[in-house]
Amino acid sequence: MWFFAPFRGLWCGLVGSVRNLNDVLSGGLLRYPYKYYTLQHYPTYICNGPTPSNTNISYFLSHTNVPGYAQWQSTGIEMAKNVNVPVLMTEYNSVSCGGSNVSDTFAATLWAVDAALNFASAGLSGAYLHTREYQVLYNLFDPPTPSTSTESGWHTGSPYYSALFLSETFIPGGSIVVDINLNNSINDPASTVAGYAIYNANGTACERLVLINYGLTGQLRNFTLPQNVTPSIGFRILVAPSVEEKTDISWAGQTIGQNGDLEGTQTTGWVECGDGCTVGVPGPGAALILFGDYANATGFFVGNSTIAGLNGYAPSPTGTSGAEDDGRGVWWRVVGVVVLVVTGSLQWVV
Ligand SMILES: *[C@@H]1O[C@H](CO)[C@@H](O)[C@H](O)[C@H]1NC(C)=O
Ligand SMILES: *[C@@H]1O[C@H](CO)[C@@H](O)[C@H](O)[C@H]1NC(C)=O
Ligand SMILES: *[C@@H]1O[C@H](CO)[C@@H](O)[C@H](O)[C@H]1NC(C)=O
Ligand SMILES: *[C@@H]1O[C@H](CO)[C@@H](O)[C@H](O)[C@H]1NC(C)=O
Ligand SMILES: *[C@@H]1O[C@H](CO)[C@@H](O)[C@H](O)[C@H]1NC(C)=O
Ligand SMILES: *[C@@H]1O[C@H](CO)[C@@H](O)[C@H](O)[C@H]1NC(C)=O
Ligand SMILES: *[C@@H]1O[C@H](CO)[C@@H](O)[C@H](O)[C@H]1NC(C)=O
Repeated sequence: MWFFAPFRGLWCGLVGSVRNLNDVLSGGLLRYPYKYYTLQHYPTYICNGPTPSNTNISYFLSHTNVPGYAQWQSTGIEMAKNVNVPVLMTEYNSVSCGGSNVSDTFAATLWAVDAALNFASAGLSGAYLHTREYQVLYNLFDPPTPSTSTESGWHTGSPYYSALFLSETFIPGGSIVVDINLNNSINDPASTVAGYAIYNANGTACERLVLINYGLTGQLRNFTLPQNVTPSIGFRILVAPSVEEKTDISWAGQTIGQNGDLEGTQTTGWVECGDGCTVGVPGPGAALILFGDYANATGFFVGNSTIAGLNGYAPSPTGTSGAEDDGRGVWWRVVGVVVLVVTGSLQWVV
């Protein structure tokens, strides 16, 4: 499950008092029957104003920076795993103390997806993408004014699209997430992609893939799955015209309008894949790919509102039923760049 936490941030006051989880656990905490251990972590902060590093959009566009950020407490997480206590990231986002000019861009959208999956791959059991009071730059959403939160005219921030994407990414019942080191993206700063394989909770089947293309505008990447991996796939695309974009972002062909309504036609690509298949991921963008029967069985969200189901909210007359499937024409692209090879476990070859 994926949640975000509507708490007011207190992180600025805590800068400088950071402790390592393993130190705290070794210091005696392991003796007590804790239900969870929790962490909060941001890659950078803007408590003392903008600097070259906290306004550095390039940082958020390189997967090489993600493992160092997401796995900085790996020793403590391992210790917690040994005593069966889950670890939660109860607060994360791009830039603490209110965000910088990068925090409301599409670069931050892609980064928050990458970071969440990396948390999962590092053994965290959940993560909360943080949002704060009115007009904090990294917010997921804001009311029209601080005093008119019951009126329409809410504004959606770029990180909201990360939450939308992630809400469909994890498998109900549990996921095992593996960073597949696509094009050596863990180590090679020249790599402009990242990828994750998502297995079911017992690790018996890879059911989903996430492919991130950090490439600049127009740099579409074709990702090819070889034959005999899955009979068919369904996929959705997260995309924006540029990494600096703040509002013209779409997920599965839809952009968020007022009151959480999804505008545009919900678009899912369906492709036969028994003999191999290719998915084109536009730059900058990301794809969520569901394999075979899983695409429909536990699959994609169908609807025109991101807040459907909330009591008291009446959807607009246009938002009622049925997802759209545009067939393979729109999304289908050929020619492989990256090849998935199954040899017992999954491996990727470029
Ligand atoms: C953010 O601000 C920095 C410093 O003023 C500037 O160099 C950079 O281009 C800005 N980035 C964006 C995405 O606006
Ligand atoms: C910005 O990020 C890039 C990519 O990680 C890095 O190479 C560069 O040194 C960073 N610049 C600053 C000023 O932090
Ligand atoms: C893959 O890695 C090579 C070697 O560093 C690099 O030249 C190329 O641009 C990368 N391609 C992508 C799509 O990341
Ligand atoms: C693993 O979990 C899946 C559900 O995600 C289930 O269908 C399957 O039977 C399980 N396999 C084993 C070996 O437990
Ligand atoms: C899933 O449903 C779509 C739309 O009805 C259909 O086109 C597609 O073939 C189905 N895929 C699978 C794997 O059953
Ligand atoms: C979403 O709205 C479109 C028209 O804007 C409609 O065709 C479609 O059936 C709706 N889908 C759902 C699930 O309500
Ligand atoms: C991706 O495939 C499409 C469709 O075949 C092709 O037009 C395009 O040139 C390919 N792009 C790259 C970067 O390989």
